[in-house]
Amino acid sequence: MSLNARFTQELQASLDQLKAEKVYKRFNFLESPQGARVRMQGRGEVVVLSSNNYLGLSNDPKVVEAGHEGLRTYGAGTGSVRFICGTFAVHRDLEAALARFVGTEASLTYPACWNANEALTATIVQEGDFVVSDALNHASIIDSIRLAKAITKCTTAVYQHGDLDDLRTKLRANAAARRRVIWTDGVFSMEGSIARLPDILQIAREHDAVVAMDDSHASGVLGRTGRGTAEHFGVLGEVDVITSTLGKALGGAAGGFVAGSAALCDWLNQRSRPQLFSNALPPTVASSALAAVQVIEAEPQRVQRLRDNTAWFRGAITEAGFKPLAGETPIVPIIVGETAAAIAMSEALLAEGVFVTGFGFPVVPQGQARVRCQVSAAHTREDLEFAVRAFRTVGAKLGVI
Ligand SMILES: Cc1ncc(COP(=O)(O)O)c(C=O)c1O
Repeated sequence: MSLNARFTQELQASLDQLKAEKVYKRFNFLESPQGARVRMQGRGEVVVLSSNNYLGLSNDPKVVEAGHEGLRTYGAGTGSVRFICGTFAVHRDLEAALARFVGTEASLTYPACWNANEALTATIVQEGDFVVSDALNHASIIDSIRLAKAITKCTTAVYQHGDLDDLRTKLRANAAARRRVIWTDGVFSMEGSIARLPDILQIAREHDAVVAMDDSHASGVLGRTGRGTAEHFGVLGEVDVITSTLGKALGGAAGGFVAGSAALCDWLNQRSRPQLFSNALPPTVASSALAAVQVIEAEPQRVQRLRDNTAWFRGAITEAGFKPLAGETPIVPIIVGETAAAIAMSEALLAEGVFVTGFGFPVVPQGQARVRCQVSAAHTREDLEFAVRAFRTVGAKLGVI
């Protein structure tokens, strides 16, 4: 039997096209743990401005040791699905901690927030229901809704980003639906903007809708103690469903969860396909994530440090002549236009010792390619000053400032 040569040739032609258009992505290999600075193969030490390691916990000694302890206690994993072969005590402890942290009754973990989002929509809607989603929601929410529509034949719509009149109109038009679900990101990952959660909650009450919010870029980041978008707006406990990742501020390894009522989490446990047909979060990861939550609860000053670093960086990069999208989150996008320009800027910054990724179409709309900076509590003032100096040099060289 020979391999299908045409299949490979076609894939190679598509890859060559990406290279010709200068939008081909390549890996950068790191030889040290994620942090404010990393050792990158062939580049030496670089300052990292493109990680979601918002609180610097991915290499925190307590988080790392908890992972070792998890491995020693539980081994590599259960070897199957939780309901079939048992679930580890650390999963239960982590889920209790996550629920406490985000202000809900319960939570249920998945191997990624992608899976958590994918699990949610199709499991809580059926034919005759209506799901409405912000235009800039994360790809995992978009795919989750597409999947729910294909499986259940529910009705779906997209409202213009942050346009709550449009949201109202779409809910009004679907007043006859059995159940209405509003899906929003807490923090929009490519913009760094924050959803107007109190208004969305008000609209949900007026239209008898369920609010599902993905807080992946807000958990550990927003709110005085890092509990997310709900804490930021003083509405903890008022969001029906919160999903989030363990792969960013909450330890940085991997994993995700759905948080809400005990009934919701039990229903997902009974019926959501990624839970029923896939392995649990590895115990090393669950143990590290649990330690990360405990560190954040014990040391809220880390969240304050992230806020201080963000304010300083936003000010300094603006003073340097750049015009980042306005906001208050540690996601600081600098729009440069075409995808190739974003990639060229990212390459030039790397040559100056700053690792920051350029994003273009289809991740962001055509013509709005950007270099997205992300600040961490792990950055020292020297790290951030170094980065801003590199931005000045590259900005001047490329004629961006
Ligand atoms: C808003 C949002 N939701 C979900 C995800 C997916 O998270 P995970 O890596 O845990 O699958 C991401 C990751 O980029 C994200 O930014």
